[in-house]
Amino acid sequence: VLTKRKEHFISARWKSEKSRVEQNNQETRTVNNELSGFSSFEEMIETRRSEARKSIVVQVHSEQSCPELYSYCCQFGTVKSMHHYTLPGPSHYVIVEFGKEEDVYNVLHNSGHLDTNQIVPVRSPFLWFRIGRGKMKMETPLSKIPLLEIDGNNSPSNDDLYSWLHAAESVSDQMRILHEETSLTSLGSRLRFLTALQIEQALSGPFPRIKAYPFGSTVNSFGKMNCDLDLVLELDKEEASSDCRLIFHAKNSLTNGRTQVQRHMETIGDICQLFLPGCANVRRILQARVPIVKYRQELTGVECDLSMTNMSAVYMSELLFVLGSVDKRVRPLVQAVRTWARDVGLTNPTPGRWITNFSLTLLVLFYLQQSLPHPVIPTFNKLISMASAADKIITTEGVNCTFVRDLKAVKKYMDRQPKNTELLEDLLLKFFEYYCTFDFGSHAISLATGTPIPKPEHAALYIVNPLERGLNVSKNVSLEELERLRIEFRNAAWALEAYIKQPTGGGELWGLVAICQAPKLQAKGKNVFYIPPKLTEKPRRFNVQELFEEDLNVKDVHEK
Ligand code: GTP
Ligand code: MG
Repeated sequence: VLTKRKEHFISARWKSEKSRVEQNNQETRTVNNELSGFSSFEEMIETRRSEARKSIVVQVHSEQSCPELYSYCCQFGTVKSMHHYTLPGPSHYVIVEFGKEEDVYNVLHNSGHLDTNQIVPVRSPFLWFRIGRGKMKMETPLSKIPLLEIDGNNSPSNDDLYSWLHAAESVSDQMRILHEETSLTSLGSRLRFLTALQIEQALSGPFPRIKAYPFGSTVNSFGKMNCDLDLVLELDKEEASSDCRLIFHAKNSLTNGRTQVQRHMETIGDICQLFLPGCANVRRILQARVPIVKYRQELTGVECDLSMTNMSAVYMSELLFVLGSVDKRVRPLVQAVRTWARDVGLTNPTPGRWITNFSLTLLVLFYLQQSLPHPVIPTFNKLISMASAADKIITTEGVNCTFVRDLKAVKKYMDRQPKNTELLEDLLLKFFEYYCTFDFGSHAISLATGTPIPKPEHAALYIVNPLERGLNVSKNVSLEELERLRIEFRNAAWALEAYIKQPTGGGELWGLVAICQAPKLQAKGKNVFYIPPKLTEKPRRFNVQELFEEDLNVKDVHEK
C-alpha cells in the first residue's frame, strides 16, 4: 500500500524522473525520517537554528516565481535550497536557504523599504518580491536549481488520509502511514525555527546572546503538521568568570521575580504587536502559572506561545526526544494514540479539565517501559544513571535536568537488553488494554521508576513529572474526564480487537479508522460503514524542475 500510495503522488508527467522525485520527496518529507541522522537533541536544535540564520522568507506571486527569485538571489550568495509553501488566502512564500549567514546579510543589505512614511521600517528576513522592472530574463535552467520543494506544507485532507488507511494492509501499516503523512515536515520545522529567530533578532540589540528555544511538539519528535510553537526566551546565561574584571552595568531585578517577568512579557508583547511583521492577534496571558504571550505569525502560519521562565520544559522535550529515538515504534504509537484521542474528543486544543497531548504521551511512554514480554524503552532513572559529567544540567530555577543525552549510548544499552519484538498493532491494543485495568484510584504513574506508585496526594489522574517529582503533570484532569478516558480506552480496545483485520470486500471501518471515526459517525446517527473517497490524482509535493519544464515550456525558451 505504501508503494501504491507513493506512486499515486507521482503523476504520469514525471514518472520518467521517478527516482529523482522520490529522492527529492524523501529528503524533504518528514522531520522524523531525518531525526535518525542526529546523534543528540542539541545537534538537531543547532542544525535547525543554523538553517534559520542562513534563510530568508520571501512572499512571491506564485510558485512560478521561484526561478526568477532564484536568479535574483544568486547575485548575493549561494542558494542552497528553496522551499515553497502556501497559506490561506492563498498567498505564496518561499524559504530561500543560503550557503552562509553572510549571504543573508548581503541580501538584507541590498533590500529596501517601499515607503518609510507609510510603514514601520523594520529590517528582518521577512521580505516580498516585487515585480521586476522590465521583463527579467530567467537565466537559470530549472534543472540547476538545487533542492526545490513546492507546496511543502500541504497536509493530506482527512478524506485522503482515511482512504489510505482504509487501503492499508494491517493496523501496523496504518500506524506507519499515519505517522509518515501527518508528522511535522522538515519545512514545518524550518518555519517554526524562523519564527523563533524573528523574536530573537528583534531583541538582540540589548541582549546579543538571547536565545529563543522551541520546546514541546516542535522539537520533541511527536509533532504533527500545524502544531503550535512553544518558545522560551533566555536573555543571557553567561556569568563573568572569576578573572574577568569588566562587568556590565545593569538594572537590578525587581524583588518579586514574577512581577518582573510579567512586565517584561508585556513589553515583548508590545514589540511583537507594534514592530514585528506578520505578528498578529497578540494576547498577553500574564496571570497564568507561567506567564505567556500568544500570537500568530501570519507569514509562517505558526501559532506561538512565548514564555520566559520555563527552561525545564525544553529539557522535558529533550527527554521525550531521547525516548522517542530509542525504538522506531515509539513515535508511530504516540502519533496513533494522539490522533485517536483527538478524534474521539478526549483532547481539545484549549486547555481545561481534559487530558493534554503531553500527559497522553507520558501515558504511552510509561506503558512502553513495562510492555510485555520486555520493555521497549528504559526507565528515566536508568537514563539518569547513564549520564556523563557533560549531561549535568540544573536550570536557574533549580530543576535538575540531568540524564544521558547521547542517543547511541541509550540504543546500545537497549540492544543489550532482552528485545521486545511486538508488532506496532499489538503494542497499540495492549496499550488500551493496560489502561483499561489500571488502578487510577490509588496509583500514580512514575516514568522515573517505570512502575505504578501509590498516589502521593489526591488527584483524579496522577502522572509524576519526571523532572520535578513533587509535581503532577495531569493535575488539571477532572474525575469525569478520567472516567471518559477509561471508557474510551475500553471502547478502543474492544473496537480494535473486533476490527483488527481489513474486511474482505466490505466497506466497514477497520483498524485505526474504526477506533478514530466510529464514535463520530455513530454520534451523527450514521452507520459505521465507510465508503472511501476516490484517491486524488493531484500530486501533493511536486518536483519543480519537471513541473516548470512542462508548464512554462522552459525548454523551448532555452532552445531559443
Ligand atoms: P501539542 O498539543 O501538539 O502542542 O503538544 P505539546 O507537547 O507541544 O504540548 P503543549 O503545547 O501543551 O505543551 C508544550 C510543552 O510544555 C510540553 O511538551 C511539556 O514539555 C510542557 N508541558 C505542558 N503541559 C505541562 C504540564 O502540565 N506540566 C509540565 N510540567 N509541563 C507541561
Ligand atoms: Mg505545543
